[in-house]
Amino acid sequence: MTEDVKNKAERVETAARQSISKPKIVICIGSSCFSRGNSKNVEVAEKFMQERGLEDEVDLEISGGLCAGKCADGPNVIVDGQIFHHVDTGVMLDILNQRFPKAG
Ligand code: FES
Repeated sequence: MTEDVKNKAERVETAARQSISKPKIVICIGSSCFSRGNSKNVEVAEKFMQERGLEDEVDLEISGGLCAGKCADGPNVIVDGQIFHHVDTGVMLDILNQRFPKAG
């Protein structure tokens, strides 16, 4: 195997591993969710990740493109494909603590 092919294979394998195993949190910052509370939920999530040292372990996506007729149920947050509605900062923290329990 040439060095180029080997490097490419390693990159593909690493990307595949990360996309499979990395937890993903999507916080909607469309205008409705943002004004209903996701502006604060972004801060809560970022602080949580920082305090737990999870910045590189979790794919935290701040997205404005989630709207699919769900704005009225916002603020909406999606964790590993599961959507949560009416997420205030307390619920956001509960979701994060449940998904990422403290070790030990
Ligand atoms: S603004 Fe978040 S679902 Fe529409």
